[in-house]
Amino acid sequence: KVVLGILASGRGSNLHSIAKAVQSGQLAAKIGVVISDKPAANALNLAADFQLPAVCVDRKQYRTQLEFEQALANELQLHQVKLVVLAGFMRILSPYFVHLFANRIMNIHPSLLPAFPGKNAQEQAIRYGAKLSGCTVHFVDEGMDSGPVILQQAVPVFAEDTPDKLAERILQQEHQAYPQAIKLYAEGKLQIDGRLVKITE
Ligand code: GAR
Repeated sequence: KVVLGILASGRGSNLHSIAKAVQSGQLAAKIGVVISDKPAANALNLAADFQLPAVCVDRKQYRTQLEFEQALANELQLHQVKLVVLAGFMRILSPYFVHLFANRIMNIHPSLLPAFPGKNAQEQAIRYGAKLSGCTVHFVDEGMDSGPVILQQAVPVFAEDTPDKLAERILQQEHQAYPQAIKLYAEGKLQIDGRLVKITE
């Protein structure tokens, strides 16, 4: 089974959907470790509920980004992680880390990339006047939210939407799309060809 290392900074609802998919047997993978960069992250409580190995690699305990990422990489290697899953992990990873896990880091972002990368994607979509937004699961490259797209799901943006209402609607799709994308990876069905991700049968 593919061993996952899930990195989360906050609430952890995507961690929850992935852990549920693993628990139910829908997703044949093993969660090797859950790592948070913040001691107070609810994701750590969730990991405990699911009886998953969990550690906090607190960014504040490290002098430099490099030392922080070395500590992250150590934990991941210690738990024999094959695929790094960013689930609401609110830090940009340097090229050093991205290369260590080349083509083995996934992220989920709450917009239809390349629209609205970066922070507050839902608010960006509303301000722009987009009528459709959604979520994107992609492989991580050196850029911000710029790596090869694996799956996308669209949701409508309504005139009366607030960022929170839109975020909630997108989140429902995230909770389907992320386990699905990881499943494709675990089954060896994802092929990266330059910018393109091919889904094989
Ligand atoms: C999710 O909506 C995820 O797409 C977004 O943060 C939320 C985390 O929720 N990620 C980003 O904005 C990354 N730039 P969760 O902690 O409940 O999974």
